[in-house]
Amino acid sequence: MEYLPERIPNECVETYVKISEYAGREFYRSVAVEVASLNPKRLLDIGTGHGILLSEILKLLRCECVGIDCTRTFFKYFTHYTKGKAYFVVADAYLLPFKNCSFDFVVSTGVLHALRFPERFFEEISRVLVSGGFTLVKDPTPLKMSLDKAKRILSDEEFEIFKTYRDFNIKLFGTEIPWTFEKEDVIEILKSSDTDFNLIKIDKRDGVLTILLRKS
Ligand SMILES: C[S@@+](CC[C@H](N)C(=O)[O-])C[C@H]1O[C@@H](n2cnc3c(N)ncnc32)[C@H](O)[C@@H]1O
Repeated sequence: MEYLPERIPNECVETYVKISEYAGREFYRSVAVEVASLNPKRLLDIGTGHGILLSEILKLLRCECVGIDCTRTFFKYFTHYTKGKAYFVVADAYLLPFKNCSFDFVVSTGVLHALRFPERFFEEISRVLVSGGFTLVKDPTPLKMSLDKAKRILSDEEFEIFKTYRDFNIKLFGTEIPWTFEKEDVIEILKSSDTDFNLIKIDKRDGVLTILLRKS
């Protein structure tokens, strides 16, 4: 089977970073608190993008952090936010360039909804996790921003990109935030994937899906 990464178009990257910074900080902070409560030592962030989540995690604990993303353009933002304290690897979530059992924690935010092969995504997570390791998946990120606020913080050109992205989501998903899976879908995906997870938590609130799994 051919696996194609679902990249963010290069021309949208800068706008995405700004929106994340202004509308997502609280979200990344709260995810970092959840991650830190499980005290990981070696952590992988899949679809890390700008790395703001890792920067928040690194404020809370000492941990070796690796972010992977198929969109290379994020690298300079990632280096800026993580201050060079985390590694960025350009890679595909479906074919992670890591040996089995390389991490004790895998986190991923705002990625699941974009994936055409979610089973394969969970299989790769399961493969690179040690036995007893955790994965926390949140989807999508609640990057809501009013048009007024966007107009204030973005340049005219970025505002046009923001509007296009927003209109696209509204047309496609009926909401500014992209559609994501329901809890029942995730349970089916996990059942039909070759993984060995215990489901610790699954929850969907305000459009954000939370999945916490532990590898047997
Ligand atoms: C909506 S962004 C989320 C970025 C960041 N995690 C956040 O919470 O803001 C989705 C990210 O997943 C990346 N991505 C999508 N499909 C991917 C794949 N198959 N392999 C690696 N990265 C992927 C995109 O390039 C993008 O950076």
